[in-house]
Amino acid sequence: MCGIFGCVLSEGSAAPIIHRALERLEYRGYDSVGEATVYGGRVHVKKAAGKIGEIHKLLNLDDLPGSVGIGHTRWATHGKPSDRNAHPLFDCKENVAVVHNGIIENYQELKDMLIEKGHSFISDTDTEIIPHLIEENISLGLEKAVMEAVRKFEGRYAIAAISSDENMLVGVRRGSPLIVGRSENKTFIASDIPAFLNHTNQVMYLDDNEMVVIDGNVRFFNTETGQSIEKRLITINWDAKQAEKGEYPYFVIKEIMEQKETIMRAINQDENTILRTAEEIKRAYGTFFTGCGTAGKVCMAGEYIFSKVAKKHVNFVISSEFPNYKHFLTDKTLLITISQSGETADLMEAVETARKMGVKVLSLVNVMGSSLYRNSDYAFLLNAGPEKAVASTKATTAQLALVTLLAYAVAGRLQEGKRLLMETASKVNDMLNPRYEARIAELARKLKDSQSIYIIGRSLNYPMAMEAAIKIMELSNIHAQGFAGGELKHGPLALIQDGTPCIVFAANDETRVDIISNAMEVKARGGYIIGVSPRNNEVFDYWIKVPDVGNASPVVNIIPIQILAYHLALLRGCDPDYCRNLAKSVTVK
Ligand code: AGP
Repeated sequence: MCGIFGCVLSEGSAAPIIHRALERLEYRGYDSVGEATVYGGRVHVKKAAGKIGEIHKLLNLDDLPGSVGIGHTRWATHGKPSDRNAHPLFDCKENVAVVHNGIIENYQELKDMLIEKGHSFISDTDTEIIPHLIEENISLGLEKAVMEAVRKFEGRYAIAAISSDENMLVGVRRGSPLIVGRSENKTFIASDIPAFLNHTNQVMYLDDNEMVVIDGNVRFFNTETGQSIEKRLITINWDAKQAEKGEYPYFVIKEIMEQKETIMRAINQDENTILRTAEEIKRAYGTFFTGCGTAGKVCMAGEYIFSKVAKKHVNFVISSEFPNYKHFLTDKTLLITISQSGETADLMEAVETARKMGVKVLSLVNVMGSSLYRNSDYAFLLNAGPEKAVASTKATTAQLALVTLLAYAVAGRLQEGKRLLMETASKVNDMLNPRYEARIAELARKLKDSQSIYIIGRSLNYPMAMEAAIKIMELSNIHAQGFAGGELKHGPLALIQDGTPCIVFAANDETRVDIISNAMEVKARGGYIIGVSPRNNEVFDYWIKVPDVGNASPVVNIIPIQILAYHLALLRGCDPDYCRNLAKSVTVK
């Protein structure tokens, strides 16, 4: 949610590097783009509303002088997308430029104070108070002025600042991600590692209330105490190619196809760690799953999988609602969090709430070094590689596979679980072939003009029905809703008319007879039934075959719907990577 970037080069021009980095960060927001550099005692800027490709054609983002600069790609919170609200934002004299990801909660109060002191504002953003606050003390130098300024803000943010008089870049983090990358003669800060991965895989993580000052050197400080901090350089095992589209037209289809390998990578965990974690889960008194959006649906599936496989009740609460459950937390509680980015604000707030009550945190997360990864007592990496498309696909199935493996470990049947998931991974590999995609593309052509698409499932596949709805909505902008099969007759059947599409997850398990009956009820009211199932059935108007993988059925059922949603997006002229009004890595509450 907003991507920020900054770099200091020992020689050469920063602008082309900022431009490329912003392209790689575009998945975090695509409302506006901007960059600023320092050269000849001035700050130079280019910025506008719109997508980076269009803006580059208009403004040539490679053409700014100087070897120190910052950049921003925006997902609007305060102030609508416009040239005026595009970052970087400036102080009164345009000597200080700032990019920001997050929200300054007390901005109105600070703005009023600054206006009273004679500052004038031109944007509707909360961000603009930052350069003006820095301006207040800029005579002390950028480093000190930023330190003074951030002590006045409240909220979650990451910022990067430059000023006209110093070849220096200052970054501060509190609640939103900020990572430093170092190569021999270039230093970077960014919201996410792929922004600079083509230059270096050597990184240092900023923690909350920490500031980095980059000039000839790189120095870190605690913003509350002012004390300097030592940081360790960490090597990241992602390579730049993994973060590129390669031969695919969009990230999302590349990531869908990568599921041929990522399920296997997710379960390839150290067995002793899995067994130790299983003991920890068994010992816990009160266990919660939490996550947001798609990861939340995986948590909900986890609740069912743990109940079915491990006979263990784990509560599921979506992260934004988790604080309501704080009265049930003790130092014996275990919180299991699931996240692709490891930066989602609602989830991080749930972790904070839990931590205050002495709760232990176990995480399943894709991004190494993310806030969640570093704030967990135990963390499993999903090993899915960078997921760039806003719609989560390969991280989802990696999460589902790992949750299933953990449930088998808790049941004392780790090897059985491993065999099942290895078989599932190999069947997904077979499934993801061009013929399979073509069959689903044909279905997309039939459904592309639908007003609504409904999805039903039972047990493990009820959460998958809800996840299928998220995929269809965010990718194709068709209204979609997932229901428990048994709930139809309590209300949703009223929505079914002649031709209303209804996707039915009919796994080969104890729920099959009932879900087929539910499908019959829809068909009897004119519904068009799409069966996602290992076996065909007379009720299906269109059958999408999936392998029979027992308790791993959620993993295989969601994949054809990911492909369907992608093809619906293409047919309806939606950008499959940049879903309308959304962004990857939701760092605001
Ligand atoms: C996924 O398709 C969605 N765009 C979204 O719901 C996402 O899963 C959610 O924001 C959680 O993100 P996280 O996994 O990075 O925490």
